[in-house]
Amino acid sequence: MRDAEWSHLPEDVRPLAALDAEQRIAHIRAKRWVDYPHAARVLGRLEEIYAQPRSERMENLLLIGQSGMGKTTLIRKFERQSSVVIKGVGTFRLQPVVVMLMPHDPTGPRFFSQLLKAVGVPPIDTFEVGAPRESTVLRVLAELQTKVIVIDELNSVLAASPRQQRRFLQLLRWLSNELRVALVGVGVPETRHALLSDDQLRSRFMNLDLPEWEEGAELTRFVTRLIWSLPLRGPSPIDSPRVMQLLVGRTGGITLGICKAIERAAIAAIRSGAERVDYGALQSQEVWDGLEPPPATVRRRQRSGRG
Ligand SMILES: Nc1ncnc2c1ncn2[C@@H]1O[C@H](COP(=O)(O)OP(=O)(O)OP(=O)(O)O)[C@@H](O)[C@H]1O
Ligand SMILES: [Mg+2]
Repeated sequence: MRDAEWSHLPEDVRPLAALDAEQRIAHIRAKRWVDYPHAARVLGRLEEIYAQPRSERMENLLLIGQSGMGKTTLIRKFERQSSVVIKGVGTFRLQPVVVMLMPHDPTGPRFFSQLLKAVGVPPIDTFEVGAPRESTVLRVLAELQTKVIVIDELNSVLAASPRQQRRFLQLLRWLSNELRVALVGVGVPETRHALLSDDQLRSRFMNLDLPEWEEGAELTRFVTRLIWSLPLRGPSPIDSPRVMQLLVGRTGGITLGICKAIERAAIAAIRSGAERVDYGALQSQEVWDGLEPPPATVRRRQRSGRG
């Protein structure tokens, strides 16, 4: 059994190591979920938001993190965990958690269209020509027994005029009161400003951060889990402090950069036959093309003495 040679891999990944190069590369390129303590904490808070009884005053959440930190990945995981399919005569679908993308134009009709799109109601099924009405949205969400609406890229609202922004916040307040759903806003740090002009809403949003990675045990574990999920035939010695220093230094601690660099190095290792990622492989410029952190992140980290 060649599987025994791949004892550096978790058992469920070992069979993948037997696949040919292109299949393994496709696997590396696919989306995956790697657990880490901070994500578990955020998921825990999201579960609390989900579990609260319906009331006129629902606790809402604002999930904040730099671009590429893994916010969308996290809320999709939350969505998957909470999806409910009841099979009986036909399939009856509930959607307790709805994840939608904030439209760039934050008007009521646009927002409602986007919301209905997120629950898979095509415009033709809304029984209305043109913009969906509030009543349609209320009916659909009540049928799906929606408890939480997650609005990804809430920061888009900042592109609108102050007056449009105020109107949009009124709409959010209405949704939350009328439907008794909890809202989860997701966005980059500037998103906090979006809620400032509405005192009532602001006081109902709990803030939750997804901070950039720093060197340390948590990052080492994350990187180790990530490399374990990739079907390389040899063990990769990348749990050393100098590797963590390199990863944090080059990415500003952004998850996207860390994952992409390791995935590219893994693909290169399959192509070259090296079958392992090490410090030297991660120093190659090819691994880092286009992955430098946004300058703002670096500046902020340097000011706060973390960079
Ligand atoms: N838990 C995770 N496991 C594996 N990969 C992850 C994880 N979190 C993030 N990533 C990687 O980081 C990339 C960026 O994540 P994501 O798109 O969720 O960031 P984001 O915070 O939503 O960014 P933006 O604000 O730009 O939308 C993902 O495509 C994936 O490669
Ligand atoms: Mg995102």
